[in-house]
Amino acid sequence: MPLMTADLASTPVRVDAAALSRPRFTALPPLTLYVHIPWCLRKCPYCDFNSHEAREEVPESAYVDALIADLELALPSIWGRRVVSVFIGGGTPSLFSPAAIDRLLAAVRARVPLAPGAEVTLEANPGTFEQEKFAGFRRAGINRLSLGIQSFEPGQLTALGRVHDAGEARRAAEASLAIFGNVNFDLMYALPRQTVAQALADVDAALAFSPPHLSFYHLTVEPNTLFHRYPPDLPDDEVSADIEEAVEARLDAAGYRHYETSAHARPGRECVHNLNYWQFGDYLGIGAGAHSKLSFADRIVRQVRYKQPKQYLERMAAGAPLLEDHEVGRDDVGFEFMLNALRLTDGVPAALFAERTGYPLALVRRGLEAAEARGLIERDPTVLRPTPLGRRFLNDLQQLFLAG
Ligand SMILES: C[S@@+](CC[C@H](N)C(=O)[O-])C[C@H]1O[C@@H](n2cnc3c(N)ncnc32)[C@H](O)[C@@H]1O
Ligand code: SF4
Repeated sequence: MPLMTADLASTPVRVDAAALSRPRFTALPPLTLYVHIPWCLRKCPYCDFNSHEAREEVPESAYVDALIADLELALPSIWGRRVVSVFIGGGTPSLFSPAAIDRLLAAVRARVPLAPGAEVTLEANPGTFEQEKFAGFRRAGINRLSLGIQSFEPGQLTALGRVHDAGEARRAAEASLAIFGNVNFDLMYALPRQTVAQALADVDAALAFSPPHLSFYHLTVEPNTLFHRYPPDLPDDEVSADIEEAVEARLDAAGYRHYETSAHARPGRECVHNLNYWQFGDYLGIGAGAHSKLSFADRIVRQVRYKQPKQYLERMAAGAPLLEDHEVGRDDVGFEFMLNALRLTDGVPAALFAERTGYPLALVRRGLEAAEARGLIERDPTVLRPTPLGRRFLNDLQQLFLAG
């Protein structure tokens, strides 16, 4: 029997109960490729990424072989689909040689159709910067660099346990812009004892280079990190909120749009790869600990590969790199979509929900009604967009879409 429900415009619509039992896709979402490189020069005390200190020589060649075998094994799950962007993240991918990145990208191009002009990003640490090396990455086909600067303030770089100093960060920033043009700087705020003025000094130091894209992350203390065991003296919520407001105003005045919770870009320089995550697109993740989300005609699956580099290499050699492989259930998919989409300042067209989840928007009706009633989401039937209040209390807004 059809269920009666209401869409955002409160017009009653009939939803067939059968339509809610399984997803149904008429077209598959855009597909991207993520490649994980799990080593760093040193482990930073705040970081809980799947990154491991390179104590001995990194098995670069064996790892690239494993990545290529991994991609080959995954080909049947993305058969015939075009890849719209590639992101080589970590860890510190810039630890690898340009020759290794070149071999990897050549193997990718030979196995999957890359969209013309596809964005190909590499994450880099200023502590690995060498002019000739970075120029080699560009020649290998990297056309966007994401540089982990964190702060330009010498004391903060020490407190954050970074392997580079402020001078190295500046040199890497300048050279990266000259080589790649399309560059992102990662900066963090709410750093130990940081004031609003200090955070703005970091913003100004970054703006002096005029990068097309800036990511500003609120430093969070994650379990299983050194900062969790020995907590630094961090600014309270009020100071953090003041920093956020001041940073946004400064970047806005400089022509950067705060288009996602942590991302600011000059017009047209938004990150294609990350936008696809937030718009609930598909991604194949290869390499240690990489996550994938892949849609098929009647299901969405999530996969996670073995995390420890050594174990990943062993499992890959045995042709079985997957630690987890499960279907995304109806109860989770609405929350997962909203979790991502609501990070975007402009939100997404309402029609994207059905396109990307395979279910009608009625699946999240209760959450939408609750969010509207609290003024956290716009009352506009054509878009799913957080209000300024919703952006401020994003966590509360996202929680409203948890099933149950
Ligand atoms: C995988 S790292 C990429 C770059 C490279 N590994 C580096 O650090 O230079 C991604 C970014 O996540 C951010 N990040 C890592 N841990 C964080 C934390 N605990 N809180 C906030 N941001 C964090 C940092 O800005 C970092 O540059
Ligand atoms: S922040 Fe970057 S360099 Fe530091 S441990 Fe994490 S991934 Fe490695």
